[in-house]
Amino acid sequence: MNSDIGDIDRFIERLPVGIIILDTAMQLVRYNDLALQLLQIDFEDCLTDDLFKAVDLPFLRDAVADIIEGKSLQQSHVKFDIANRTVACTIKTTPVTGNSEIILILEDITNLSNIDKMKQEFIGTFLHKIRNPLSTLKTSLELVTDKQLGLVSDSVKEILEMGFHEVNRIAMLLNDMRDLYLIETGLASANLAIENIDLVAVINSVNDDFLKSEPPMSETARRLSITGDTPVFVNADYEKTKMIIANVLKNALQYSDENVELIYSADEDCVTIQIRDHGTGIAEEILPQIFTRYFREDTSATRKNEGNGLGLFIAKSYAELMNGSLFCESKVNAGTSFFITLPSGGAVRNG
Ligand SMILES: Nc1ncnc2c1ncn2[C@@H]1O[C@H](COP(=O)(O)OP(=O)(O)O)[C@@H](O)[C@H]1O
Ligand SMILES: [Mg+2]
Repeated sequence: MNSDIGDIDRFIERLPVGIIILDTAMQLVRYNDLALQLLQIDFEDCLTDDLFKAVDLPFLRDAVADIIEGKSLQQSHVKFDIANRTVACTIKTTPVTGNSEIILILEDITNLSNIDKMKQEFIGTFLHKIRNPLSTLKTSLELVTDKQLGLVSDSVKEILEMGFHEVNRIAMLLNDMRDLYLIETGLASANLAIENIDLVAVINSVNDDFLKSEPPMSETARRLSITGDTPVFVNADYEKTKMIIANVLKNALQYSDENVELIYSADEDCVTIQIRDHGTGIAEEILPQIFTRYFREDTSATRKNEGNGLGLFIAKSYAELMNGSLFCESKVNAGTSFFITLPSGGAVRNG
């Protein structure tokens, strides 16, 4: 054997990744032990034939398909079952030596992917378990601060109210984190309870919550006017519909100083809720970004109002999961309209 080839073989054997080199007829040119261990294939049996005719490896065939079509470096993530275990693997594919050969680099990321899964499970459990103690803490603080019980002096009450405000902030942040977690892990739609719900009741409930909330939000909420034909029903999850309307409405009230209108209307298939403000508006180049997670424009209004840039991302994700939509039209210095659409609930319920 030529000594250069011997060097290359030794080099390939020492690499910490699986290597397979094929010619354009899909015949094996070279491979290393790690590729063999990862795929559990006896490559010796398929040295003289098209590799994909000899063994059933659809994910490898897919990985080389684009290279054969003349594309350069490709990367894919795959999971496959081999010898009673699920392997997670990154496959990088690239043409070599003037397109006469294709090199496949296989990296076993099963352990990393398991750690990722454990991390997600831990976050999911944490976000679930923290809800009850936090809600007990909120109720307790509310009870002792309640004037009618007369349990505490004015100065102690002030401190307790501060505590209550902070607990509320933590609860809201955790709610957003839980929604983000459910959306990112693909668990959100399984948690939806889709039913025929009274949209006007949802809107009134959002409005009541705003009016009952702490100042300045409760005062801000007085700028809202609601118009539409009653009754209107939608096929949607009650809590999520409430959250979507609340998120969009809160923005309109926080990021503009003038009146805000909520107008709802229905046709046979679809119900539309328009939330219109007369604030500073959103520049055209910013508009596509407002629905991405953590995005906040740096303006005096966003600096004045605390937020985490998750509200619109979560609202749009849930609207789409319920077969609806959320979109925005805006004109700088004239104002902004957000449109929430949801599938119509059809027939009006009696009683
Ligand atoms: N009605 C509105 N008028 C002007 N800007 C808005 C309006 N609604 C949303 N925005 C912009 O979109 C960004 C993202 O909104 P959102 O996801 O609710 O996050 P947050 O309110 O926490 O900043 C806001 O920070 C703001 O820059
Ligand atoms: Mg917001």
